[in-house]
Amino acid sequence: MASSIISGTKNLFRKSTKVKEQTMYTEANTDSEPVTLIVVGCGQRGKAYGKYALQSDACQVVAIAEPRPQTRNMYAEQHKVDPTLVFGTWKDLHAASADTINTVGKRLADAVLIAVQDHMHVEVALAFAEQGYHILCEKPMATTMEDCIKIEEAINRAGIIFGMGHVMRYSPYSQEITKIVQSQTLGQLINLVQVEPVGYYHFAHSYVRGNWSSEKESSFALMTKCCHDIDIICHWMSPSPPVKVSSFGSLRHFHHRAKPLDAGDATRCFDCAIRNDCPYSAKRIYLDSVSRGNTGWPVSTLVDGIPDIENITAALKVGPYGQCVYESKNDVCDNQIVNLEFENGNTASFTMVAFTSAICERQLRMHFTHGEIVGDMNKYTVTDFRTNKTKTFHPANEGGGHGGGDIGLIRTFVEAVRTGNQKLLGTDVGEVLKSHMTVFAAEASRREEKVVNCVAFEEKARASVRETRVQTVLR
Ligand SMILES: NC(=O)c1ccc[n+]([C@@H]2O[C@H](COP(=O)([O-])OP(=O)(O)OC[C@H]3O[C@@H](n4cnc5c(N)ncnc54)[C@H](O)[C@@H]3O)[C@@H](O)[C@H]2O)c1
Repeated sequence: MASSIISGTKNLFRKSTKVKEQTMYTEANTDSEPVTLIVVGCGQRGKAYGKYALQSDACQVVAIAEPRPQTRNMYAEQHKVDPTLVFGTWKDLHAASADTINTVGKRLADAVLIAVQDHMHVEVALAFAEQGYHILCEKPMATTMEDCIKIEEAINRAGIIFGMGHVMRYSPYSQEITKIVQSQTLGQLINLVQVEPVGYYHFAHSYVRGNWSSEKESSFALMTKCCHDIDIICHWMSPSPPVKVSSFGSLRHFHHRAKPLDAGDATRCFDCAIRNDCPYSAKRIYLDSVSRGNTGWPVSTLVDGIPDIENITAALKVGPYGQCVYESKNDVCDNQIVNLEFENGNTASFTMVAFTSAICERQLRMHFTHGEIVGDMNKYTVTDFRTNKTKTFHPANEGGGHGGGDIGLIRTFVEAVRTGNQKLLGTDVGEVLKSHMTVFAAEASRREEKVVNCVAFEEKARASVRETRVQTVLR
């Protein structure tokens, strides 16, 4: 095993000769060696970030771990990954990395992209941080406060670059708005309101039938869906930190009690009398969609390989995506609101709601002392109270998910790794931890029906981690 990996690694230590797809992205320095990446999890997010490596000379994917055979082979082929560096699980990839570190004294790559499911982030992040890889970790950081703290400690101990999948920060739209906020040209930002319209069928797909439907298997919806909303709200309100938070929310609709009478006893959409009319019908969302030729999201998440009518039909007959949304195993909120007060007295409110036609196109209202901004992630208007003039801006979007945020993040991360400059990312692991703590505090408020003091909450979480450690040592 070790010798074949080492022969694979030899290819890593020479200049890339790969032929790029049409280059869409201009780089600051095309003369330098590409930053090398390993990808853990080649699903939706692994692909979204990997796209940059196919289109830019700035980085190259040199090793991957992915258990689904067709997904793994397609990814490896696209990125021309040496077969000795293609693995079925992250643990095998990690062991191979340990081999090369022990034998040739080098890591397999400069950085690792962690794009596996939420509950796996902590294990993977700790393991690769320990080997000295720079890390781009998908959001959320981890699913418990303790694990988030462990990741922060591991990153600080290793002294590595850390990027978080808070992609919204990196879209041209958000960056333009951030500049206006920080320049104070409209005065001080006093209050903001953000709504995350998840989208009715997106919610049904991901949070009723899919990977983020069960709190035990992933985490609560505010964390899995909206930790980056809370992050960007705190970023816009910075440097004043959040001090108090309150939250309300529940699972109002996607449960057995709300099942339409016409659906009768059917537990799967194919057996249901209202399969052609129900907005959440799996037939409509997946089968009709693939029949029209759509092989992308959401149908692409149902099968390993290319979706077609046969494999989607088979998946819907037996799997969770063919289940009635009123008969699924989901337990996460379908609507939640969060109110925040910051140290300087500024306020923000946030709403996450399933029942929208828009899909994740956040609606934003920012209220400054001398003006306001109203945005929807595609365009924004700026009104200046002094001139009474309103101007609309349409930030150029170079494509990719989250209004260009996906590409913005991976490009910035790669550049941060190349230059060894964490500051380029505009955040660090400490700030990422703090915004996650605010999300945990909001959820504690919702559950315990009380206003939570963010500072005391974080202190308590840290004390609890310390206490657990002491107990573990004593045991
Ligand atoms: N930043 C964002 O806006 C955003 C959006 C969606 C999802 N996410 C997060 O990204 C992460 C991945 O989500 P996704 O939609 O790509 O999920 P996905 O299921 O499409 O991809 C995860 C991949 O990990 C693979 N995997 C499972 N076990 C593995 C193992 N032991 N070793 C290596 N790979 C393994 C799976 O086969 C799958 O291909 C999640 O944490 C999710 O919450 C972030």
